[in-house]
Amino acid sequence: MYASQQPTTERVIVRSPDADVFLLLLSFSDAISKLLIFDTSRRNNRRQLNITDLAATILERLRDAIFGLHAFTGCDSTSCFAGKGKLKALKML
Ligand SMILES: *[C@@H]1O[C@H](CO)[C@@H](O)[C@H](O)[C@H]1NC(C)=O
Repeated sequence: MYASQQPTTERVIVRSPDADVFLLLLSFSDAISKLLIFDTSRRNNRRQLNITDLAATILERLRDAIFGLHAFTGCDSTSCFAGKGKLKALKML
């Protein structure tokens, strides 16, 4: 957020291997007015996702719901229901 508010910033690149970070970026992309890129590159595997572009294809309501669903079905900082994956919940959504 801070980086995006600097006048010289053209784009914000967030680097992480974590799916939680990807979903946070998707959920909060509206609050970041600059081009937002998610970099999940590993050693020899360069991978950047254009979050600005991706977010534009998903309804705002759905972006919020995906974030809640991710937390509800288990992420790094919440518990989950044993034996219940994300796929069924995502398909229902
Ligand atoms: C990302 O998507 C935005 C919105 O569609 C587009 O303007 C921009 O050129 C894209 N940037 C990259 C690096 O792909």
